[in-house]
Amino acid sequence: MLYSEKVTDHFRHPRNVGKIEDADGIGEVGNVTCGDIMRIYIKVENNIITDVKFNTFGCGSAIASSSMATEMIKGKPVSEALKLTNKAVVEALDGLPAHKLHCSVLAEEAVQAAVKDYYDKNSIEYDPLDFAIGCSGCGGECEV
Ligand code: FES
Repeated sequence: MLYSEKVTDHFRHPRNVGKIEDADGIGEVGNVTCGDIMRIYIKVENNIITDVKFNTFGCGSAIASSSMATEMIKGKPVSEALKLTNKAVVEALDGLPAHKLHCSVLAEEAVQAAVKDYYDKNSIEYDPLDFAIGCSGCGGECEV
């Protein structure tokens, strides 16, 4: 089977779909090759991500990845969400086909972009090296 049960489940029943009107951070990223776009909204209280929603205009793997990523960062400290890797998302989904790994990279980047937006809006200092935004969307050739 091409896709794991978890991927199929998160694609068919995505968690945390939607928009947070008064979000504390919004991250929007896209992949230039496939044209897919992912937007993640976070609500932060006392440094904890209390709510998270996403909108993904893209393939099933991108939807499954964003759904899983939101589940993984909900209730976690912002600094921990920042460490979420696409590899961890792929593992939580019980794998993705090689040509679909870039879809999970989008989820990692969207979370990072949302955290960066939150940091910027609140003048919180950070190390720019913590952010890998700007991935070239190589199509899965990076180490995953
Ligand atoms: Fe573009 Fe999946 S094919 S994110």
